Amino acid sequence: MDKVLGVGIIGCGNISWAYLKLSRLFKDIEVRAVADINMAAAKARAAEFGVRALTVKELLAAKDIDIVVNLTVPATHFAVSKQILEAGKHVYSEKPMTLSYKDALALQKLAAKKKLRVCSAPDTFLGASHQQARKTLDDGAIGKVVSGTAHFMGPGMEMWHPNPDFFFKPGGGPVLDMGPYYITNLINLIGPVKRVAALLGTGRKERVINSQPNNPRNGEKLKVTTPTTYHALLEFVNGAMVTVSLSWDVWAHRHQNMELYGQTGALFVPDPNFFAGDVIVTGTDQKPAVVDAWDHPFGKLNWGHGNSQTDLKWANYRCAGVAEMASAIKRKKLPRCDISLVAHVVEVMTAMLDAGKSKKVVTLKSTCKRPAPLGPDEARALMK
Ligand SMILES: NC(=O)c1ccc[n+]([C@@H]2O[C@H](COP(=O)([O-])OP(=O)(O)OC[C@H]3O[C@@H](n4cnc5c(N)ncnc54)[C@H](O)[C@@H]3O)[C@@H](O)[C@H]2O)c1
Repeated sequence: MDKVLGVGIIGCGNISWAYLKLSRLFKDIEVRAVADINMAAAKARAAEFGVRALTVKELLAAKDIDIVVNLTVPATHFAVSKQILEAGKHVYSEKPMTLSYKDALALQKLAAKKKLRVCSAPDTFLGASHQQARKTLDDGAIGKVVSGTAHFMGPGMEMWHPNPDFFFKPGGGPVLDMGPYYITNLINLIGPVKRVAALLGTGRKERVINSQPNNPRNGEKLKVTTPTTYHALLEFVNGAMVTVSLSWDVWAHRHQNMELYGQTGALFVPDPNFFAGDVIVTGTDQKPAVVDAWDHPFGKLNWGHGNSQTDLKWANYRCAGVAEMASAIKRKKLPRCDISLVAHVVEVMTAMLDAGKSKKVVTLKSTCKRPAPLGPDEARALMK
């Protein structure tokens, strides 16, 4: 097999810039072409990064493309990923991989039949902090995890996104949009989920777009047709119970992103939407202390506001999942963001929606293994 795997991108919107930019950090992948139903968007991205702009059909037929990254909108993720598999190429999808567990299973079946890989974002759990949180847990710093909490709560997407319509329709909502980061990270830390209970609600039936100063849509009203607040309770296979609150009806709060309580201590995990942040641990002395950050390449600050590459505030290594997938394909190993993990994540999220609607506890059909840890040396080996 070619040393470097050729990557094509379908969907040249907002997040494609980061993928094109960050793909260059990694040695086993090379983005060679981009496509979009809007050819002007594909041409603009292609010109910025010196790659080919193709139609979707041309990209799927391109001989030098091995992995296709699906950066289209959630409602088309399933159809586009299916098309990619049918064209004989591996898929890496943005989140949520699919909007139903049934679709996730269909992709898994098709991939197995075609002997191809399907992987999906998020890859933030491969970040320096989350991997260090994982090591801290695996080293026994807090003992067996008994319970925990996870919170993603804010006022809503109409406050920053220029076209927030999708977020407030079925298929949107905070669970399918932000849930992937939280659920994937919890599974990375604790393991698979067994049962889900949830309550849901809608804080406001109407939203008013109020985003960037020059957005011509400011003041436009949107009807809210999907729930915007969920409080769920997850029971993990290992017995741990974690409350997960995801909401776009909260103006302010003081909860941590994620706290895990073990038999001999507690672990505070930073925002699972990012690759870095403080990991805080306490033992039976009840004195929380920041864990000294380890020298992991996915913890170095490299990203500023509005994709700025100078005023660095965050560690952004999106594309690490694609690079890790390419490396795993070459070595005939299971990628860490494999569909065997992500299908379970999709089932957990859709179970939260179902449990909220039915007011019944949902027992999951699927399970998964925790992905293998990605320590500093293995992460470094993915980079140029
Ligand atoms: N924007 C972010 O900061 C961000 C961050 C993380 C993840 N994501 C995820 O990435 C995905 C894309 O987000 P975005 O913000 O870039 O969206 P976007 O709306 O800016 O871009 C999506 C692009 O996909 C194209 N597209 C839609 N359907 C298509 C089809 N069938 N075939 C080909 N092209 C098609 C559109 O023309 C558009 O250019 C979403 O799933 C989102 O949840 C976005």
